[in-house]
Amino acid sequence: MSKEHSRDPHYKMAKREGYRARSAYKLLEIQNRFNIFKRTFYILDLGSAPGSWLQVAKKFAFENLEKYKDNYYHRDHFKIMGVDIKKLVPIEDVKIIKMDFTYPDFHKEINSFFKGEQLDLIISDASIRKSGNKFSDQVKQVKLCYKILEFSKYLKNKGNFIIKVFQGEDFEKFYVDMKKDFGLVKSYKPKSSKKKSNEIFLIGLNKLI
Ligand SMILES: C[S@@+](CC[C@H](N)C(=O)[O-])C[C@H]1O[C@@H](n2cnc3c(N)ncnc32)[C@H](O)[C@@H]1O
Repeated sequence: MSKEHSRDPHYKMAKREGYRARSAYKLLEIQNRFNIFKRTFYILDLGSAPGSWLQVAKKFAFENLEKYKDNYYHRDHFKIMGVDIKKLVPIEDVKIIKMDFTYPDFHKEINSFFKGEQLDLIISDASIRKSGNKFSDQVKQVKLCYKILEFSKYLKNKGNFIIKVFQGEDFEKFYVDMKKDFGLVKSYKPKSSKKKSNEIFLIGLNKLI
């Protein structure tokens, strides 16, 4: 274990609790604050490797099958798809695609897996490969975020969306643009996100159709 990891409580917790990455706790914190997994059964995760967000998504989707067996919106099964350029170790009952999600062919994968049905939730922890130059990295990340935001067309009315952005020059404009698509957009920096990192999550609630 590296020195940095040995001092990192979230890294140790992830090892202990069987999560593939410490990032799991960022999503769990977002869930605690915004309850984004309420009644979610059809979920898309963009930029999934090594897979801890998929593990979290599967846990909630599975629990929801029992939790929301009522007269309101519910399903008797869940469908979760993850995509990454990197190869992922398989997760049972989760569809994993190895592809660049900005490629047009990825839309075919979405349509064939979800059979044209609308999604309850889209989550993305995707990030560009950092060069170390905070300015150009931030610009590149926001460009990627605009591509990610295009996937919001697959959301159902009132569906939710999580996206990782880097704070910096173009952040405000992206925030304003995202607000056009959702009833409410909140920014949130989880405690488990490293302080030195300029990452921040935008939580789009209640997709407007
Ligand atoms: C921080 S990691 C995700 C960690 C993941 N949420 C977890 O909990 O295991 C970001 C991932 O985004 C992926 N990524 C970035 N751009 C992508 C793209 N255009 N297509 C597919 N994957 C992409 C990277 O390959 C990387 O694995």
